[in-house]
Amino acid sequence: MNAAIVITLLCSCLLHPTFGQDCPSRQEIHGSLKQVQKLLSAHEASYLQSLRNLKKKINLLQSSAGKQATRAINGTCPKLEAPINGRKLGKSHSVGHEVHVLCDPGYELVGTESRVCQESLSWSGQQPTCRDINECTSSPCLNGGTCVDEVNQFSCVCAKGWAGATCQSPVPTFFVTMTNTSAAISPATAAAAASTLPAATTGPFVRPSRCTIIQGTTHCTCEPGYTISGRDSNTCTDIDECELFHNGQAGKLCLHACVNTPGGYRCTCPAGYNVTRDGRSCKDIDECATRQNNCTKDQMCINTYGGFQCVRVDCPKIPNATYVKTSPMRCERNPCPLDNKACSQTPNSFSYHYLAVVSNLSAPRVMFRVSALRPIGETLRFSLLGGRQTRRHFTVQRSDRVTGQLMLVSPVQGPAMLEADVEMSELERRVQLGRYITKVTMYVSQYEF
Ligand SMILES: *[C@@H]1O[C@H](CO)[C@@H](O)[C@H](O)[C@H]1NC(C)=O
Ligand SMILES: *[C@@H]1O[C@H](CO)[C@@H](O)[C@H](O)[C@H]1NC(C)=O
Ligand SMILES: *[C@@H]1O[C@H](CO)[C@@H](O)[C@H](O)[C@H]1NC(C)=O
Ligand SMILES: *[C@@H]1O[C@H](CO)[C@@H](O)[C@H](O)[C@H]1NC(C)=O
Ligand SMILES: *[C@@H]1O[C@H](CO)[C@@H](O)[C@H](O)[C@H]1NC(C)=O
Ligand SMILES: *[C@@H]1O[C@H](CO)[C@@H](O)[C@H](O)[C@H]1NC(C)=O
Repeated sequence: MNAAIVITLLCSCLLHPTFGQDCPSRQEIHGSLKQVQKLLSAHEASYLQSLRNLKKKINLLQSSAGKQATRAINGTCPKLEAPINGRKLGKSHSVGHEVHVLCDPGYELVGTESRVCQESLSWSGQQPTCRDINECTSSPCLNGGTCVDEVNQFSCVCAKGWAGATCQSPVPTFFVTMTNTSAAISPATAAAAASTLPAATTGPFVRPSRCTIIQGTTHCTCEPGYTISGRDSNTCTDIDECELFHNGQAGKLCLHACVNTPGGYRCTCPAGYNVTRDGRSCKDIDECATRQNNCTKDQMCINTYGGFQCVRVDCPKIPNATYVKTSPMRCERNPCPLDNKACSQTPNSFSYHYLAVVSNLSAPRVMFRVSALRPIGETLRFSLLGGRQTRRHFTVQRSDRVTGQLMLVSPVQGPAMLEADVEMSELERRVQLGRYITKVTMYVSQYEF
């Protein structure tokens, strides 16, 4: 039975006696109250017991915490000194703290590296010391060399005929052949020359070799680009790369010309070309873009392979018609007087085009296309004007209904200048409505690049 419910029930009966009928009798109440009292005292007893237990625990905790606190403040281990040739890491000497010892380079630690301040207020482990490492223990000196131990390093005293940090290399005996090329040898090297060999033919293409005597055998070497020569291998002769690789498997060394140089070679290009970045080929210089041309204001600069051309577009003088320049490259006929048939049969316009091509261009190939923008007639006809010279190299074909093309039919060897006039005529029931001339000038270079 819940004590709280019993109490509520009893109180309501005492305060509201009108409910007499439902309330228990006096005797019954007395019994219930006694029961509740018993319950409460039992509760009280257990509550007090737990309180006591709690107090005990708190006291225990307090005392242990207090002990620790006094230790932490007061308990220190004796001061530790850093070992000679070493360092100590960690400043606190309190209980529970650690210090570490590091040795300087070249020294090794003997003892305990990490030490802890124990509750007994003493350090764990042994007092460390830093001991010089004996680099000679591994016998690093070769070929009978004697090792000398030094701090953090060793040195070798080599036996005769050997040199190097570990006496690993045989001592070379250098000598430089004396020649008359003062530029070839620095004065210091020349002075150190041990023997003088008969002067060889000299010059930048012949240089002294560099010889080394290793344990009785002579080895002579040359700088790159030179080959050993002479009876005693005492000279180095320049390799003529231009000759040697004239037509090598990888093709010509240079696209245009090769110049042999002491120890090397160099490619050159004809005037109007610069050597490309790879040093082998030639690329055209655009004189028109770089102002390396002398064209006047009323001229146009046409860059060609290896040069440039200054051109001036002048409108043609044709009987019965007059022309006016409508753009730098185009002339158009002034309107013809009425009933002037001779005038109306002259070309309506002349267009000028300049092409730069390399020599020996493969053929056949399309060089130029002419197209009618707004054809008025029902038929367009394309034809090539000019003599036999022109027809030897060119032909004109229709490529679609409104387009004709100028074809190169055979390779041209430069330097040359070729001209071809392409006529486009508009027809309506076989009556010519207009003629349009395109004048193509082709500058063929001397070289194929
Ligand atoms: C260190 O302990 C002593 C008793 O051993 C005490 O008198 C002193 O106050 C303590 N020092 C500190 C800093 O608590
Ligand atoms: C070196 O050559 C020059 C000419 O090139 C000559 O005049 C000179 O006497 C030569 N010297 C020696 C030491 O042979
Ligand atoms: C080409 O060579 C000329 C000298 O010959 C030099 O002045 C010019 O800068 C070069 N141009 C290029 C694009 O290398
Ligand atoms: C440009 O100079 C060249 C010579 O370098 C000369 O032959 C040519 O006539 C000159 N052209 C003009 C338009 O002055
Ligand atoms: C066309 O030009 C020629 C020669 O200049 C001249 O003889 C002829 O009369 C001209 N014809 C017309 C229609 O003007
Ligand atoms: C022209 O080029 C062809 C290959 O395209 C080559 O066989 C021929 O030798 C060249 N001619 C000249 C003159 O360089």
